[in-house]
Amino acid sequence: MTGKTCESVPTATPRFSQRRWFAADQAISFLMRQAVENRNVISLAAGLVDQETLPVDATRAAFERLFADPERARAALQYGTTAGAERLRVQVAQHLARLEGCSVAELHIDPDQILLTTGSQQTLALIADLLLDPGDICLVAAPTYFVFLGTLSGVGARAVPVPADEDGMRVDALEEELARLERAGELARVKLIYVVSYYENPTGVSLAAERRGELVDIARRWSKENRIFILEDTAYRELRYDGPDLPSVWRCDGSQETVILTHTFSKSFSPGLRVGFTVVPRELVRPLCDLKGNEDFGSANLNQHLLATILEEGLHEPHVQKLRRSYRLKRDAMLAAAEKHFGSLQEVSWYRPHGGLYVWMSLPPEIDTGFDGPLFQRATEEGVMYVPGELCFPAGDCEPERNHLRLSFGVQSVEGIAVGMARLARAVQAVLAR
Ligand SMILES: Cc1ncc(COP(=O)(O)O)c(C=O)c1O
Repeated sequence: MTGKTCESVPTATPRFSQRRWFAADQAISFLMRQAVENRNVISLAAGLVDQETLPVDATRAAFERLFADPERARAALQYGTTAGAERLRVQVAQHLARLEGCSVAELHIDPDQILLTTGSQQTLALIADLLLDPGDICLVAAPTYFVFLGTLSGVGARAVPVPADEDGMRVDALEEELARLERAGELARVKLIYVVSYYENPTGVSLAAERRGELVDIARRWSKENRIFILEDTAYRELRYDGPDLPSVWRCDGSQETVILTHTFSKSFSPGLRVGFTVVPRELVRPLCDLKGNEDFGSANLNQHLLATILEEGLHEPHVQKLRRSYRLKRDAMLAAAEKHFGSLQEVSWYRPHGGLYVWMSLPPEIDTGFDGPLFQRATEEGVMYVPGELCFPAGDCEPERNHLRLSFGVQSVEGIAVGMARLARAVQAVLAR
């Protein structure tokens, strides 16, 4: 015996898995930290939903109803199943039918094609895990949802950009990219096309009606070496303020072999509940459940029962209507402020979103909006924050565009939006004047 305690023996350094190094440092953590540490800053960066409109009364009423029945309460407090609570899956089918403007029977799905998940982020992560080996390819609109770019790099996959415009991903450019990949002998590596089909994060644009069917058609035609799936992310679908009510890309997939639909109650009700769902082609049901089983053998059962009660009691729809009214005012406030402060500036433009939480603004090409660029620095001094557009372009295959900003109107009040936009305009003018 040396008398040495375990604590005095030097420990070896941890050796992480390869995947640890795939997981990039997420820029979102930096933005969150800045917003928390710097209370005087108006954040037009945070993509959170509006704190003031979170449904406290509806959730309390649902809790009381659920817990008034001890049998149901005990079922909710018990472990659930990997695929999720039957009660909520029935409600989800009805909810989806309402969104698509058809009956549940007309959806033509088996109940087990619906899987309940921990937010829609879990679907994004599971699908990436299920389909993509290191070096495999997912085609994405440029720009796209930057968190998913992190998910893709987390599994070592390549995000290949497809140019997008005011109508979403350009399907002609998608076809050209697939042809290029085939010529380069890389078609077999293409497994997935990711599309945020409604009021996209970050641009606020929706995929045009006529592009939806074409997208499915292209994925099917190019599934020569293996099936190319479309992952349709409909996170913002219910936040529609005006413009057409479009059917999903999933509805354009008559055979239901190509499109994986993901949706969430985070934007339309509460992100704290972490309830999302996915509808998958029949062949993916078993593999996805196997994977999810290894991860958590079911998302939070209590939250699923709570949400089932909310839907059964009709507490969801009135809340969404309230949200639409409130966010529409905020969107209009941001667009009015953009017009007022940026309308006369050369080479400054923005999209007018029909829904969602974001306005995408483009500045003259010489202005670098990145964290290390002059605008971000100046904007911080003025007391306003935005998401640099370059984060939303996949790294690697081509140079990201550096002159865009993602502005969120979700979190700030109408007054806060007006002040934040005035500060941003001052920062842009100062950088332009240099
Ligand atoms: C486009 C998009 N997809 C998915 C998500 C994930 O949301 P959740 O996991 O809360 O459903 C978000 C969240 O901001 C998003 O913007």
